[in-house]
Amino acid sequence: MSEADVAIRRATLDDVPTLVEHRVAMFRDIGALPVGEEAALRAAVLPVLADWLAMGEYVAWVVTAAGNATEVIGGAGVQRRHFMPRPSPTGVLSGGEGLVLNVYVEPGWRKRGVGGRVMREVIAWARSEGIEQLVLHASAEGRPMYEKLGFAQTNEMRLA
Ligand SMILES: CC(C)(COP(=O)(O)OP(=O)(O)OC[C@H]1O[C@@H](n2cnc3c(N)ncnc32)[C@H](O)[C@@H]1OP(=O)(O)O)[C@@H](O)C(=O)NCCC(=O)NCCS
Repeated sequence: MSEADVAIRRATLDDVPTLVEHRVAMFRDIGALPVGEEAALRAAVLPVLADWLAMGEYVAWVVTAAGNATEVIGGAGVQRRHFMPRPSPTGVLSGGEGLVLNVYVEPGWRKRGVGGRVMREVIAWARSEGIEQLVLHASAEGRPMYEKLGFAQTNEMRLA
């Protein structure tokens, strides 16, 4: 894939149904969506995503095939988050972080650089906004892509 093969734009409220489908399809494709829960997830995500996007708490991008602006082939988003100031090798960080969410590429377009392209857009935007770090939970399929972009494993733990 060359840069000319795809176009990327910021998602608007008109894209909310597509962004919801990306989230549902992402969980389905990584095997984390129990059978029968798809409709419940869709219904739960829709109002939250619409609300956060409208407030600017969530920022998203959609990728379209070049020359066909209506064919959305992937996307990604970032939830803006606060964090308590913390030390780092480059000084105290206090500028906030972004949680990368809903990274999704349609199956027929995978392994052609689309995921990397949208993630580079996310990273450039985060820099321009003064966001000091991006965090995400990597799927097995996404991990090599994130590592190539410079993401590293952390010590995060979780209690459900
Ligand atoms: C993870 C995901 C977003 C990656 O999207 P993608 O468009 O395939 O990503 P890229 O093409 O940029 O990179 C994927 C691989 O293709 C390779 N690739 C990129 N361009 C290529 C090309 N022209 N020819 C061959 N391989 C290529 C990359 O080197 C990378 O290889 P690697 O995985 O062995 O390191 C996609 O697989 C997906 O949507 N999966 C299901 C949902 C999911 O897991 N989302 C992430 C949640 S954290």
